[in-house]
Amino acid sequence: MRIKRTIVVLGLITITWSLVLYFTLLYRPIYSETSVNVNRQIVILEQGISEQFKKNNDMINNAQKLLEIKKKGDHGQRQIPKEALNVKIPVLVFACNRVTINKCLDRLIQYRPDPDQFPIIVSQDCNHDETRDVIEKYGNQVSLIQQPDQSDIQVPPKEKKFKGYFKIARHYGWALNQMFFNFNFSTVIIVEDDLEVSSDFFEYFLGTYPLLVKDSSLWCISAWNDNGKEGLVNMNRPDLLYRTDFFPGLGWMLTKSLWLELYTKWPRAYWDDWIRDPQQRKGRSCIRPEISRTRTFGKTGVSNGMFFEKHLKFIKLNEEFVPFTKMNLTYLLKENYDRSFVKDVYQSPVVNYQDLREGRIDYNSPVRITYRNRDEYKIITKKLGLMDDFKSGVPRTAYRGIVTFYYKEKMVHLAPNVNWKGYDVSWS
Ligand code: UD1
Ligand code: MN
Repeated sequence: MRIKRTIVVLGLITITWSLVLYFTLLYRPIYSETSVNVNRQIVILEQGISEQFKKNNDMINNAQKLLEIKKKGDHGQRQIPKEALNVKIPVLVFACNRVTINKCLDRLIQYRPDPDQFPIIVSQDCNHDETRDVIEKYGNQVSLIQQPDQSDIQVPPKEKKFKGYFKIARHYGWALNQMFFNFNFSTVIIVEDDLEVSSDFFEYFLGTYPLLVKDSSLWCISAWNDNGKEGLVNMNRPDLLYRTDFFPGLGWMLTKSLWLELYTKWPRAYWDDWIRDPQQRKGRSCIRPEISRTRTFGKTGVSNGMFFEKHLKFIKLNEEFVPFTKMNLTYLLKENYDRSFVKDVYQSPVVNYQDLREGRIDYNSPVRITYRNRDEYKIITKKLGLMDDFKSGVPRTAYRGIVTFYYKEKMVHLAPNVNWKGYDVSWS
């Protein structure tokens, strides 16, 4: 109701203000030297007014959008018990030698609703003094722990240039042991020092936390959409969430029970690809958002900057706060999702990607594009500007092989046949 009233009041103010300006201008005595001059001034003022009009319109549209999202959230009762809303969820920030970590920490601190509920623990590798100085400037707003083992790592000659990945894996193993076994936390959000978070980052993880605990077919909540570029997402649906079989990382939450499973066999390198292996994943999924809740600014890092320049830097960071803890997210539980989402996908009309690209689709509903093999998948994704790679045979953002995205304002499911038999690890 308050948002509605605000919209009306905003509208009235806009109209009154425009009328006042208009009449002031109309009946203002003209003392200027030449009428040309006056005319020019009027034109400038008119432009100003129409710009102001546009701004006000945008504001009203925004308020309306938020109202719609709120309405959606009000449907059905909220499923989150009180205890779940008070759970302590620390944020573990991985640092090495990036002094720009302040960009990451500033945002986390700015948006953190409660420092006790969300303690920030920075774990630093690499013994880099300048970076440590930056972290220590935050005083008691963050805690600093330091990875003690700085010994050289023996790396097979062929992998010499990948030594960084060995160091990262060693650091992850140590720091997660600290979080779960030394500090005894039950859940942890992992952030890397080159990530910037959105204003509803904490709200997102708190709202989805009950799903992670309740649904054993989920093993992570991620803030990242691998296909989250501006032209491939619906900017009007920041509330929309999905399940995915592809582990996205890049701002993600895990529970101690998963760590108990992984820590004994934690790999020496390439931990993120290792975790995507069927032996670790065991058919489990993550939750991912339509619009990313993190953005990476790590142009130079352990991997080369090409991936950043070609892809990562285009991923859109969410700008609208969505009240996830007040929304009913039970549609994401496996039972419900497999029934309704997957059914919707296979009931949507099939179109071909050329027609989609050229805007020759008449359906108002979501549509489906079918792919039958790896090569088809590659061709279609390349043509539509989606990520075209696989990890352990899973396409980025896929759920049961289905990759959902937006294209020219339409929801599109790039999907295998309905009798899909599972991922083929030989697809790469
Ligand atoms: C990429 C992934 C990253 C993953 C890593 C491991 C992307 C965009 N990034 O790293 O999520 O964790 O592969 O395979 O896909 N770090 C250390 N010790 C080091 C070097 C780095 O702890 O010796 C830390 C950094 O501070 C950072 C993290 O490891 O927090 C990742 O390092 P970065 O340089 O950003 O590598 P990416 O190529 O992004
Ligand atoms: Mn990085």
